[in-house]
Amino acid sequence: MSGTRFAPSGPLRGSLRPPSDKSISHRAALIAAMGEGETEVRGYLDAADTRSTLHAVEEIGAGLSGGGPSGVAPAIRIEGTGLREPTSARVDVGNAGTLLRLLPGWLAGQGEGHWTLDGDESIRRRPVDRIAVPLREMGARLRASGDRLPPLEIEGAALHGIAYEMPIASAQVKSCLLFAGLLAEGETRVIEPLPSRDHTERMLAAAGADVRREGDAIVIRPAESLEPQSIDIPADISSAAFFLAAAVLVPGSEIALEEVGTNPTRTGLLTILERMGAAIEREDEREVGGEPIASLRVRSAPLRATEVGGAEIPLAIDELPLVALAACFAEGTTFIRDAEELRRKESDRIETVTATLRALGGNVEPTADGMAIEGTGGLRGGAIDSHGDHRIAMLGAVAGLASKQGVEVLGMDAAAVSYPGFEADLGSLLAS
Ligand code: S3P
Repeated sequence: MSGTRFAPSGPLRGSLRPPSDKSISHRAALIAAMGEGETEVRGYLDAADTRSTLHAVEEIGAGLSGGGPSGVAPAIRIEGTGLREPTSARVDVGNAGTLLRLLPGWLAGQGEGHWTLDGDESIRRRPVDRIAVPLREMGARLRASGDRLPPLEIEGAALHGIAYEMPIASAQVKSCLLFAGLLAEGETRVIEPLPSRDHTERMLAAAGADVRREGDAIVIRPAESLEPQSIDIPADISSAAFFLAAAVLVPGSEIALEEVGTNPTRTGLLTILERMGAAIEREDEREVGGEPIASLRVRSAPLRATEVGGAEIPLAIDELPLVALAACFAEGTTFIRDAEELRRKESDRIETVTATLRALGGNVEPTADGMAIEGTGGLRGGAIDSHGDHRIAMLGAVAGLASKQGVEVLGMDAAAVSYPGFEADLGSLLAS
């Protein structure tokens, strides 16, 4: 298999709007499918993961029209089945962990019906016991392989509300239980050990659900129905993150990334890069569809090492690979701690990030819950394998631009899971 080569580059310049937010797109399709009538979603992400969610909602009876290329372009319209009407189905979730964890929350509380969720090779390694345990406590009937992994089988059942203290800070588990709470008898209370992304809470409240935060708990009460709405999806800070990192690392760069979601539960990378010495300006700040957005202007900067752990981890969970990359260019040794969850992503990201950076000349030591990365003044370059993980593929590309000799990425096609136009967009920032 031949790879895709990313040569050392000159400065990145210009501006673009990164693709729409993946987390919010998944939720928009699911919440629209639960609605009574037609929801319009503007800027739905057109990528492999979010296509899986559209197929899933069609399989269970929602109607779909419109559609088009990614970005802010044409709206899709989703005709909901109503909260209590999804039809039995086998659902292929593809590579989408968010779909795998969120959808069962809605299905488990159906009085009747039978659903099977399965996906690709990577999805079969993603644990579902984290949702099965609390859902069963609510009365759900679920079966998983070895009680832990997909395929996941769900038989509709009557649910009752519980108070559940999550052992891990996971927005996927939280969202699953909030969906289940819409159909459960009584109140469902989800207690988070640390705040995680809160898109589900915002979107359910906008659809008329009785959901509120009480300290470290999110409390939801059952709903008769959800109101269809129009939903606007901002650009994904997790996709913008690759260009942010590239611009910080390649000397002389200055770029602007437009309409990026800046929900404080997602902006950990900005805080971390700023602490390392980067200057990231927020311009044109406003709110779209209940979410804060801004244009992010960033320039290259010399970096110093930092320590990342605790409450910062869930706020930067998908960007921690880029923190490790940036740390290779920083002065001193960076420590990432409390991030054992990285082992349960599309790949074991403690292993794949370590292998990637070492292959390019980095000095990285993996630990049980993170990494220690010694800054070595940059990276030599070389060849890496994406391991089928979209974020490792794009990390390799950014490393290539900032490296001395360039990077060849095997399996660059994995980027299509969240960002099919990644190479073209990167090219446009190099050509400007
Ligand atoms: C997501 C939550 C995070 C994140 C994932 C998307 C979501 O996972 O890593 O990419 O949309 O809720 P966890 O909730 O399992 O930490």
